Amino acid sequence: MTALLILFILMNLDKGYCTETRDQVLSITPKTQEQVDILKNVSTQYETALWQPVSHHYITEETQVHLFVPANSSETVQDVLQKHSMTHEVLLDNANELIEMQTKNDSTDPRSSSTFYERYHSLEDIYYWINRTTQDNPGTVKAILIGSSYEKRPLYVLKLSLNNRPNKKAIWIDCGIHAREWISPAFCLWFVQYSLSFYKQNQDITNILDNMDVYVLPVMNPDGYKFTWTTNRMWRKNRSGSRSSTCIGVDLNRNFDANWCTEGASCEPCSEIYCGAFPESEPESQAVADFLRRNKNSVQLYLTIHSYSQMLLFPYSCSLDEAENHNDLLEMVQEAAQRIRRYYRNTYKYGAGAKTIYLAPGGSDDWAYNLGIKYAFTFELQDRGRYGFLLPPSLISRACNEALLAVKTIALKVIEKT
Ligand code: ARG
Ligand code: ZN
Repeated sequence: MTALLILFILMNLDKGYCTETRDQVLSITPKTQEQVDILKNVSTQYETALWQPVSHHYITEETQVHLFVPANSSETVQDVLQKHSMTHEVLLDNANELIEMQTKNDSTDPRSSSTFYERYHSLEDIYYWINRTTQDNPGTVKAILIGSSYEKRPLYVLKLSLNNRPNKKAIWIDCGIHAREWISPAFCLWFVQYSLSFYKQNQDITNILDNMDVYVLPVMNPDGYKFTWTTNRMWRKNRSGSRSSTCIGVDLNRNFDANWCTEGASCEPCSEIYCGAFPESEPESQAVADFLRRNKNSVQLYLTIHSYSQMLLFPYSCSLDEAENHNDLLEMVQEAAQRIRRYYRNTYKYGAGAKTIYLAPGGSDDWAYNLGIKYAFTFELQDRGRYGFLLPPSLISRACNEALLAVKTIALKVIEKT
């Protein structure tokens, strides 16, 4: 009996101890301007990471804020919220466990091969995978070195060319512009694997690959991605240093030449949406822009993969202007969203970027569009905030299949129209 009692006490002590040492994600909806200001203050003055919105400037009344709160600032943050009678919902109470789960993947695990695409992979693993994929598919997959990152890591694009027809057009897909959005590189790997396995098996992908080559950049921001594995899981930007500040990193999706650094971006190096010193100041964005400039006559469809929030977006994000082929673009994402709803019972919002989320100038999709790639999209994959950037590996396949369906739907329409 006493033994049981002691066990019971120990178990509860353990629980109490755990809740205090856990990283959490809170959802808070400020109701007044005062609460907005407090929340802005909390997210900038305390050691936290804002998940949504992307910068504290966009915190407004009656819109949900998702805030990552590491264990060591948990108590102080909760106190501040309580003092101002702000209620919060705990979205995640075990963020550190989730992070651990995501990084325990590993190619060293002997049972791993069958589930390779349902796990997250370190940068080293991804480079290894790129190598293996080209070696195993000598006639159909080539790796093209398009440049290197700030820390001199190579940027490889995989070119999938499954059919030898002359003068084929092409699709571009980049993943991992933002370091913490791990589902994005996972999707690029998924897409390549699916294309290689289901060409001549699945009608849609066969039709697409018969008509088009696909360029896949699995990790556009390798330095940032590496950093999320080693040091800070919530890192978004690249890792370049600036002369004017001790803060590190440029938001690569604000660094392109599309109304560069206007409202919706920041010229402050410490901001999560820092636009950089000038358009294409970063080697990563410059490499992509150079490649697309060289290949603009063949690339007809530009896709860039982000998370989270479940949205299918098209230009413009850098202004409230309507794209010249707005109705075509709208029809495409609408059909993609409809099919996702039908097959997977999941909801994706869609529309022009600026009107669907917020003004975000300097984005790669708007830049590609203005270059002349008239079908340009940003996908925001799962989820809508339940796990946010910490989507568990068990949900990778669903998230990727939904995105794959959207890619197929849109690519087939592009083929039809051109
Ligand atoms: N969440 C993305 C970002 O903040 C949205 C990108 C939308 N498109 C764009 N061109 N900004 O970068
Ligand atoms: Zn992103």
